[in-house]
Amino acid sequence: MQSMLPNVLQPDTTDHVPVLADEVRALLALEPGHTLVDATFGAGGHAGLLARDLHGDGKVIAIDRDPTVRPYFEHFRRTAAVQARFLRGDFSIVLTQLAENGVRADAILLDLGVSSMQLDRPERGFSYATDAPLDMRMDPSSEYSARELVNEASERDLERIFRRYGEERYARQIARAIGRRRRKQPFERTGELVDTIKAAIPAPARFGDGHPAKRVFQALRIAVNEELDALEDALPAAVEMLRPGGRIAVIAFHSLEDRIVKRRLRELAGRGGAAAGPACLRILTKHVVVPGDDERARNPRARSARLRAVERL
Ligand SMILES: C[S@@+](CC[C@H](N)C(=O)[O-])C[C@H]1O[C@@H](n2cnc3c(N)ncnc32)[C@H](O)[C@@H]1O
Repeated sequence: MQSMLPNVLQPDTTDHVPVLADEVRALLALEPGHTLVDATFGAGGHAGLLARDLHGDGKVIAIDRDPTVRPYFEHFRRTAAVQARFLRGDFSIVLTQLAENGVRADAILLDLGVSSMQLDRPERGFSYATDAPLDMRMDPSSEYSARELVNEASERDLERIFRRYGEERYARQIARAIGRRRRKQPFERTGELVDTIKAAIPAPARFGDGHPAKRVFQALRIAVNEELDALEDALPAAVEMLRPGGRIAVIAFHSLEDRIVKRRLRELAGRGGAAAGPACLRILTKHVVVPGDDERARNPRARSARLRAVERL
């Protein structure tokens, strides 16, 4: 049953469409001889496009914490005709280590969040649309999954997570409903959580503003993968790695991420008030870049994308 094989056995670079690809390419402005760090390699969609600008002369360092991207990287290495290596790990740690080891880059890309492959593989537990084990780890070897979080965090912490990372109006009601349900039986599957969320919110709210579990799932995913902490720590390390004239592009997918990117890059550019460091960056995107109507129509995942870029002075 060849067609039933998971993508990991047959990497298909069409299954993750790179977002804002032309805009990223123009902003990163790669040239032959340059080094690109793709800190969120995924299916290698962006890396494949950007590597073309190296014209066979340059290096690509690919980072991802998800080991299932490795076949995509192997495909990239075979086809891209540039020197390439893959470093598996959290980009905040890997970028810091690279910077400390004196590795320098001309372009660094962070395309944040989950990939289509992660969302589309039910067994990863990222999606509220299919019943699956409650997992949501981007790195399956990390200790803490959504299952532990949902069953073990206090109701107060869950409420805070849903409010802060999901901007969920009914955070308290949902956290309480989770508490009641897990006293009888621990959560094992995404479907059980979706049912609990639906039952906890008022009936009219179940039908407005997308799927009723969307915000709680986003919040849990951010918490399980410590996504915002990783982003906070990664940006200064990325700046440190840049050669003069080198550029960083970051694509965020929700306002929490974008706020961090905007604030952190302004601080690093020396325009962030008291917390600002010495000016070493120029902001290339005076206004945040968002996809045009065409891309939004073609790729629903692109709809919430927001791109910012900086250049090292
Ligand atoms: C939106 S996808 C990137 C897609 C890629 N740009 C492409 O065109 O195929 C984000 C990827 O970043 C990875 N990721 C997210 N946070 C990470 C982190 N803190 N460290 C390393 N990888 C991370 C995810 O595992 C996922 O594969």
